[in-house]
Amino acid sequence: MTATRIDWTREHCRLLHRIREEFARTRPFEGRTIGTGIHIEAKTVALLTTLRAGGAAVVATGNLNSTQPEAVEALRAEGVTVIGEPTKDEHEHRGYQRQLLATRPDLILDNGGDLFAQYLDDPYPGLLGGTEETTSGRMRLAPLRDKLNRPILVINDSPIKQFAENQHAVGQSTLESLLRLTNRATNGLRVTVFGYGACGRGVADNFRGAHAKVSVVEVDPVTRLRAHLDGFDTPSRDQAVATADVIITVTGARDLITADDLPLLRDGVILANAGHFPVEIDADGLLAAADAVREYQDDLATLELADGRRIHLVARGHMVNLAGPRALGNSIESMDLGFALQARCLEAVALGQVDAASSVVPVPAAIDAQVANAYLADRYQ
Ligand SMILES: NC(=O)c1ccc[n+]([C@@H]2O[C@H](COP(=O)([O-])OP(=O)(O)OC[C@H]3O[C@@H](n4cnc5c(N)ncnc54)[C@H](O)[C@@H]3O)[C@@H](O)[C@H]2O)c1
Repeated sequence: MTATRIDWTREHCRLLHRIREEFARTRPFEGRTIGTGIHIEAKTVALLTTLRAGGAAVVATGNLNSTQPEAVEALRAEGVTVIGEPTKDEHEHRGYQRQLLATRPDLILDNGGDLFAQYLDDPYPGLLGGTEETTSGRMRLAPLRDKLNRPILVINDSPIKQFAENQHAVGQSTLESLLRLTNRATNGLRVTVFGYGACGRGVADNFRGAHAKVSVVEVDPVTRLRAHLDGFDTPSRDQAVATADVIITVTGARDLITADDLPLLRDGVILANAGHFPVEIDADGLLAAADAVREYQDDLATLELADGRRIHLVARGHMVNLAGPRALGNSIESMDLGFALQARCLEAVALGQVDAASSVVPVPAAIDAQVANAYLADRYQ
């Protein structure tokens, strides 16, 4: 019998497997609709079918440039309504999100804050609250807290998500993706990482482990000191750009590398982004400044400049570890942990265990402890 990568992934999402069995008995979402706006890939199938097992009708749309057709197929086969095709077009993507909100979900699982922000443009009664997956979403939703005024638990702010996914998994998968997409050796390469938050630490560490010479550019002086004490070079921003063979942005901020940097960039430099939104590297500006552009398969483009230099741009500045049909994304274990937090947080909101004052706040410590204990119990059983 042939099995698929989705089967493999589901079998190794061991926490979600246990929760699915429990939810099938307890049915915490009976009669509820959950609207989700998270990347549609193999691990998402494990999460959304767990929510289905808990009695929810699930309506899902993806993120820009990360929807994987076989995951959509698997979700539809399990009775999940999937809205939208894989797209890189922001306008089209927003249209799918509007269609999702028109189903008036009782709970929202957001990733990047788009769904909750759009909900405020056209609110409807009955939204209980939900969850936000990422750093970028928290930054966007925090100023809207008073308007949202319902329980929204930020998975990103769980210490488990911070170290399991943002640090270890983003570091591993960014390295894995760059190797797979470019097939270039990292040994002796000068890699500049923009941002030394949880994700940046993991990226810097993994490239150092792969024998690259890593520099860090970080705007916060205390965090820059941390990078220095961790043994990374922390030169001036322009020096770090001018000497890099590879530049990886992972900050949540915009316009870190733009066409203004073209005079600084070395011939042959590879530019990649691992931050949530495709705004950290201004791909459009860089492409417009090129004399010619050669596009390869796998979302890799070479920009030829008038002076003969070539700049390689990965995935047009979309997330390097999730872009394209063959991306593996973050490790199964890290996503199983994060998605177990998602399932438990949505359960707590659905059952009225979290009040409106908990709007855009971290995962309750009791849920963190529950998920950590479940993971360790599984490992040491
Ligand atoms: N690719 C993935 O799978 C994945 C997974 C999780 C999070 N993310 C995304 O990665 C990004 C970073 O997440 P994080 O958890 O590390 O965030 P974080 O807030 O912990 O760290 C971001 C760091 O970037 C620094 N920074 C901000 N602007 C900068 C600038 N102009 N130059 C240099 N440094 C700058 C900040 O000072 C901070 O230290 C976010 O967009 C997040 O949503 C991606």
